[in-house]
Amino acid sequence: MRAYIASTAFFVPPNRVTNDDLVSQFHIDTTNDWIVQRTGIEARHFADDGVGPSDLAEPAARDAIARAGLQKDDIDMIVFATLSPEHAFPGSGCYLQAKLGLVGVPAMDVRNQCSGFLYALASAKGFVESGLAKNVLVVGGEKHSAGLDLSTAGRTVACLFGDGAGAVVVRGTDDPERGIRWMNLGADGRFADSLSQKVWDSRHRPFVKKDPETGKHVVPADMMWANMDGKVVFKNAVEKMILSVMGMCMENGIEATDLDLVVCHQANMRINEFVRDQLGLPADKVPNNIQKYGNTTAATIPILLAELERDGRLKPGMKVALVGFGSGFTWGSAYLVW
Ligand code: ACO
Repeated sequence: MRAYIASTAFFVPPNRVTNDDLVSQFHIDTTNDWIVQRTGIEARHFADDGVGPSDLAEPAARDAIARAGLQKDDIDMIVFATLSPEHAFPGSGCYLQAKLGLVGVPAMDVRNQCSGFLYALASAKGFVESGLAKNVLVVGGEKHSAGLDLSTAGRTVACLFGDGAGAVVVRGTDDPERGIRWMNLGADGRFADSLSQKVWDSRHRPFVKKDPETGKHVVPADMMWANMDGKVVFKNAVEKMILSVMGMCMENGIEATDLDLVVCHQANMRINEFVRDQLGLPADKVPNNIQKYGNTTAATIPILLAELERDGRLKPGMKVALVGFGSGFTWGSAYLVW
């Protein structure tokens, strides 16, 4: 038996924030042109105060379950990928499990940031193919807006990210052609500090520092917000994503040009254009939706898969590559026949 993705779904909160809104609403010293030219991003969605990633994931999860032709009680495992969980613990998977009314069903979080969906998918594939679970709900969900410094000081990171969730149901098939035929994951922890957020620092007691003057617990700005060495991220993302897809092709005896679709993590349209050009693929085989949503980290790939399936660009029988890269550094790729 081989695992396959039986359904796709997504949800983004209604509040759409354009690049111009970053200037007018948040008084960030930036321009639409700067953001579009460097990243391709035109807008993103921000969830309201009080809404968490499991809230965003719930409608996507319910829709994915329905589209798989299942009832919620058929789900026997939840894997929730996120870098912005509601809390340090417990995981967002447990909050989602309660919201779905699936008491007793195992729920785990995957904390692999922009590669989170691929690590979660590999976990689901393992659960299904080993017989440990039949119907795994795999979710990528992020509430980034709470962790962005929406001021000029934070503009390099703040313009990149958006909130949203994507969900798929992973099941088993006896069809010898169909399914997740191959996956590869990787990491290079030497770059752990190149993209990080250290708001919770268990190396120290207490986790949150005490101001020596006031005696109050305070989170300094460099811990509160994400730190990113953008150029190092860009260079490594391009390199690892290209090598990952090329390795995937070699292992599976195909050429990159045999692929019908390469679904890339949506971090920066320039990264994906570079990957596309190096693989010698036309634009329609490497689709992007970062223009509308920004980088939703663990949610980008399932959101894009759902959109491609809805508009008929992703069809049964297609040869599809998924590829992502992110904090850690971590990366991964998958070869599927849809
Ligand atoms: N608006 C206007 N000016 C800005 C903005 C902004 N939003 N952000 C930065 N600038 C300014 C900087 O202050 C700097 O000004 P200076 O020259 O006067 O000092 C100038 O623009 C250039 O800044 P750089 O940081 O050198 O810009 P760079 O060309 O590296 O582009 C970017 C920044 C777009 C973030 C790029 O490095 C990038 O995309 N890197 C990849 C990062 C990424 O994808 N992160 C996502 C998370 S990881 C993942 O998902 C793979």
